[in-house]
Amino acid sequence: MLNNTFSVAPMLDWTDRHQRYFMRLISHHALLYTEMVTTGAIIFGDRDRYLQFNDEEHPVSLQLGGSDVKHLAECTKIAEDYGYDEVNLNLGCPSNRVQNGSFGACMMAQPELVAECITAMKAAANMTVSAKTRIGIDDRDSFEELVHFVGTLHEAGCDDFVIHARKAILQGLSPKENRSIPPLKYDVVYKIKELFPQCHISLNGGVKTLAETREHLQQVDGVMMGREAYHNPYLLSEIDCLLYDDNHPLLTRHQLVESMFPYIEKEMAKGVRLQSIVRHMLGVFQGVNGTKAWKRFLSENAYKESSGIEVLQHALTLVSQGNAPQDEETSAG
Ligand SMILES: Cc1cc2nc3c(=O)[nH]c(=O)nc-3n(C[C@H](O)[C@H](O)[C@H](O)COP(=O)(O)O)c2cc1C
Repeated sequence: MLNNTFSVAPMLDWTDRHQRYFMRLISHHALLYTEMVTTGAIIFGDRDRYLQFNDEEHPVSLQLGGSDVKHLAECTKIAEDYGYDEVNLNLGCPSNRVQNGSFGACMMAQPELVAECITAMKAAANMTVSAKTRIGIDDRDSFEELVHFVGTLHEAGCDDFVIHARKAILQGLSPKENRSIPPLKYDVVYKIKELFPQCHISLNGGVKTLAETREHLQQVDGVMMGREAYHNPYLLSEIDCLLYDDNHPLLTRHQLVESMFPYIEKEMAKGVRLQSIVRHMLGVFQGVNGTKAWKRFLSENAYKESSGIEVLQHALTLVSQGNAPQDEETSAG
């Protein structure tokens, strides 16, 4: 059974298979998400490009974007065939492009349609179907409306929710602004857990530390971390011990980077550019002396066509081996 006590959020352009491979070396247990993939891309596009992933990445949840019941069911079956551990329906993305396609956060206004989607997805495959939602949209943000929404999906067979604890404003705010301007309301998520004790409720939004994670876990079943996990991935190195009772030896940051070498070499032999992998590793020395030099050297060199592992090997010599205090730039920034 999937243990999603801690998950790394789906993030478009960020949580690709290289990033997930890297995160998996840091935590053996966290549930990792794909970027949102639209049903159209899977059904009509280059399916392998969107869906292929490495065995080492498990457990992985495929996040789907779409509102066509049949397409969602078809993609859920395809996800099962590709070996995903879970499918997640995006009900929180407020971007114009997504709204134009009538999916994402605007589907919160149509609980019955979402319920139909969930029912069809669950019938299509034998796998967990979860929903990632906001606490409301625009002026449809009362607690009663959220309870109705979650209740309707639950009746349709969804037992697993990730709730981004802020509402989405569909007109006038960019997706980025929609991740910071609407206030975070953790209490709302806690109350949903109280009302739906039988459901697995994960809280998302603004969580930056493991101390905060543990505090939320007093109230809810799971915590999903997005931006902080991406920018400061080594933060996750303690969660296996803290949250999953797994005391496997931890890799140092240097060892972690070196553990990526065989993967990078294998991927480069297939034509992947160094930069495509290294860009997800820039934050690994967050808080350590030399992080600025590490990032700068990689930014200036990893993109070059001739660059290989030696670029990382050199960059490693620029950062301190210990966990020394932050250098001036990062502590100021
Ligand atoms: C670059 C970026 C891309 C994102 N793409 C998606 C996405 O594809 N699907 C989704 O449900 N949420 C997406 N999100 C939202 C995150 O999953 C998460 O809900 C949000 O960042 C709040 O969590 P955080 O404060 O821990 O970052 C994205 C966020 C960022 C920063």
